[in-house]
Amino acid sequence: MQAFAFYNAQHPPKAIELPTPIPQGYDLLVAIEAIAVNPVDTKVRANLGEQHNPPRIIGWDACGTVVAVGSECQQFKAGDRVFYAGDISRPGCYASHQLVDERIVGPAPRSLSAEQSAAIPLTAITAWEALFSRLKIHPETDQGKRLLIIGAAGGVGSIAIQIAKVMAGLEVIATASRPESEAWCRQMGADHVIRHGDHLINDYQQLRIAAPDYILCLNETDHYFAMMCELIAPQGLICLTVTNHQPLMLEPLKNKSAGVVWEFMFTRPMMNTEDIAAQQDILTQVSTALDQGQLKPTMTTHLGAMSADTLERAHKQLLSGRTIGKIALSSVSD
Ligand SMILES: NC(=O)c1ccc[n+]([C@@H]2O[C@H](COP(=O)([O-])OP(=O)(O)OC[C@H]3O[C@@H](n4cnc5c(N)ncnc54)[C@H](OP(=O)(O)O)[C@@H]3O)[C@@H](O)[C@H]2O)c1
Repeated sequence: MQAFAFYNAQHPPKAIELPTPIPQGYDLLVAIEAIAVNPVDTKVRANLGEQHNPPRIIGWDACGTVVAVGSECQQFKAGDRVFYAGDISRPGCYASHQLVDERIVGPAPRSLSAEQSAAIPLTAITAWEALFSRLKIHPETDQGKRLLIIGAAGGVGSIAIQIAKVMAGLEVIATASRPESEAWCRQMGADHVIRHGDHLINDYQQLRIAAPDYILCLNETDHYFAMMCELIAPQGLICLTVTNHQPLMLEPLKNKSAGVVWEFMFTRPMMNTEDIAAQQDILTQVSTALDQGQLKPTMTTHLGAMSADTLERAHKQLLSGRTIGKIALSSVSD
């Protein structure tokens, strides 16, 4: 099989040949048709330092066809088209083939291209787990409650807006800093779009709506934490997704009996939790919703086939912090 391996943080990846792995246990061997990139790719790359041995194959968003299965597999067989994010503790998808545990894999949407499909899993799992597993939103009883999404035009926000509207019936307040990202948030279904950065509290108050019951923070936890504590409704919940670098002061939440929860979408696969197969369930529901037109694809940029050059361009775009929607690439063999 072919793979793109990073030997250090600075240099572009190198195309290398590796023996194609043989699946065992719950693993599927997938021939990759398309991948998508995420900020976690650039974060893992940055941590490789000067010299990483062995080189690391990164990337955690793919769509492809199953070519072989391990002895424990029951859900998928050779020939099935699948999409998945995978497990950060295992080799990633910048490759022609990849092993992935079938319990974190879903059937690829039939109505989307491989690239559009690859752009979905990591962000959809993050958004779904944030809303339903961490914030514990119940679509039957929480309809009409308010969710503020900070940094909503990016990959996670694009699908989080839609899931919150379509699956949970929430009123969604999205944040964006530019006319094009604001327009995208509205296209994804946001009810209101306000500016992030230091405008956040003032702009929220200008809406003249009640305080948010839930906040999903997709950027700069340190910068927004005090603002979120000020904005959150009594008994509300804040969900964080981005590592903080300063201690977080919880005291302002006490009188409101408000809470903070973390979402890390690799927890289930990385720690092999008892409910690991919840991610298969999420991806199956998301796939159906995409095919039924309830959810819309979020891919905005197709950079062509995977190569050292296109992967480097994808990372540069991610690091700009200005991605709208998602960036995808086709397989190496295209
Ligand atoms: N914990 C987890 O499981 C998990 C999962 C997925 C992602 N994440 C993390 O969540 C973050 C977002 O991921 P993503 O895929 O959505 O990233 P992304 O696509 O790169 O996000 C880009 C968006 O960020 C917005 N943005 C830039 N600077 C901002 C700021 N200072 N405040 C608020 N928004 C800002 C931009 O909006 P404007 O152009 O309008 O400014 C842009 O549209 C990343 O740090 C990622 O690593 C965590």
